[in-house]
Amino acid sequence: MSKTMIALAPGDGIGPEIMQATLELFKAAGVMQHLDFAPIEMGKACFDKGETRGMTDAAVRVVEDCGILFKGPMETPKGGGGKSINVTARKLWNAYANLRVFKTLPGVETVYSKAGVPINLVIVRENIEDTYGGVEHRLSNDMIQCKRLISAPGCDEVHRFAFRTARALGISKVHCGHKANIMKMTDGLFLERFKQTAKDFPEIETGDVIVDALCMNLVVKPQQYQMIVLPNLQGDIVSDLAAGLVGGLGFAPSANIGNHISIFEAVHGTAPDIAGRGIANPTSLILSGLMMLRHLGLVREAATIENALVATLESGTHTGDFGDKSKPSVNTQTFVQAIVDRLGQKPKIGSVDVPATEAQPFQRPPRPTQMQVIRTYTNVVSHVCGCDIYLDTPLSPVAVADEMARACKDTPFELKLISNRGTQVWPTGSVYTECVDYYRVRFELKKEQPLGTIGQARAVALMDKVAEKFTVCSFELLRQFDGVRGYSMAQGQ
Ligand code: NAI
Repeated sequence: MSKTMIALAPGDGIGPEIMQATLELFKAAGVMQHLDFAPIEMGKACFDKGETRGMTDAAVRVVEDCGILFKGPMETPKGGGGKSINVTARKLWNAYANLRVFKTLPGVETVYSKAGVPINLVIVRENIEDTYGGVEHRLSNDMIQCKRLISAPGCDEVHRFAFRTARALGISKVHCGHKANIMKMTDGLFLERFKQTAKDFPEIETGDVIVDALCMNLVVKPQQYQMIVLPNLQGDIVSDLAAGLVGGLGFAPSANIGNHISIFEAVHGTAPDIAGRGIANPTSLILSGLMMLRHLGLVREAATIENALVATLESGTHTGDFGDKSKPSVNTQTFVQAIVDRLGQKPKIGSVDVPATEAQPFQRPPRPTQMQVIRTYTNVVSHVCGCDIYLDTPLSPVAVADEMARACKDTPFELKLISNRGTQVWPTGSVYTECVDYYRVRFELKKEQPLGTIGQARAVALMDKVAEKFTVCSFELLRQFDGVRGYSMAQGQ
């Protein structure tokens, strides 16, 4: 039988130690009869060599050939310099859904385990869009912007994945976490597409919850949730909160799933404070590896290893970062040997069934021949109804309004409002509103100008005119789509 090839990046810091331990465990469980690993260059060494992506071209080719990447944690340059390699990898290969499973584990004491509250929670986080596009600009002396991008097809992909996974895992209720009360258009779209997708999974109950309330609910009564699907940034934060419920990042596995390429990784970082000492806890990477084995159809091996791991935790064997401090901790090597010694055993609580036969072997979809354009619509009629012009200026709102009223004279547009940091400051405003050096000036079609008679060129011409006197730092067309306003109102409008 031919083996499946996996691209392997051990990572930085404790990465190589926990990866070696995990592979030894896999070997002992018979996994290597089915898998081969192709080591690739990725992480700190690549950044140090000037590879701004954090990986070599050869590494990219191997991952694309294999379709599966198993990786340890990697050091991310902070602030300036290279972008996070983890984010780059997820985006480059369209691994659009981040799946993380949070389960109470024996021997891992938490506030909840002590209180007898079992936790079994799955979080699906959108992995590509949102502010993680990293589209940022300095707009004036005092203003920086980060664009938050949420697309309908992006939402659909992650929601479909969540519901399909819920179905496979026998989850009866899926919640959508969001902030659609404030970001009515971006989070509103995420929530609307969730409700649309849910219609294809009628047997699964749904609910939605505002993300701040969700955080409180998770701390107060975590057992009320089975699966939560969230946009990228909110999902990032909530999934670390959930990791805290089960004992920390060392116990939370993570899979980044795409249609063609999937990435399995430990969620904790490189732990530079303990790197090289052989004392790191490999549990998160092992659990991520088990998600990978199940993804590849190696369900029997995954169940055998999971039972041995849980039995080991149940026995009280622990590395230095968790467990009963009155008992001496063991190093990484001894911890993994304890799991190997228990292969074939089942824990007293939380054992999983070991199927007699393997599931269907892993089938990779064919490699795409070109970049895909995904869209959800066919014929939408859009009409220009105005534009927002953003200015870098230290003037007062009234002075800006005077200038802008002059600029739009003899054009199809009239000055509608001026806002500063999203709050309306003209035609009405409060003296208590503090302004910075960055204004949004909204022009809308004059009442007598029928919709559909003016194209974008007239709006661009208006911007040109404004730019003769002002620094224009950005520009957005205002459009209606099938008669629905495609832009938000200012606060106070
Ligand atoms: P960290 O997760 O590396 O460490 C936080 C604390 O947890 C430290 O005290 C560390 O010793 C401990 N710890 C983490 N994993 C452990 C394990 N398996 N066993 C025992 N103790 C463990 O987070 P930190 O310090 O914020 O980040 C260090 C580096 O890792 C940074 O460069 C960061 O960018 C990177 N990082 C990479 C990630 C990835 O590749 N997926 C995720 C998070 C951070």
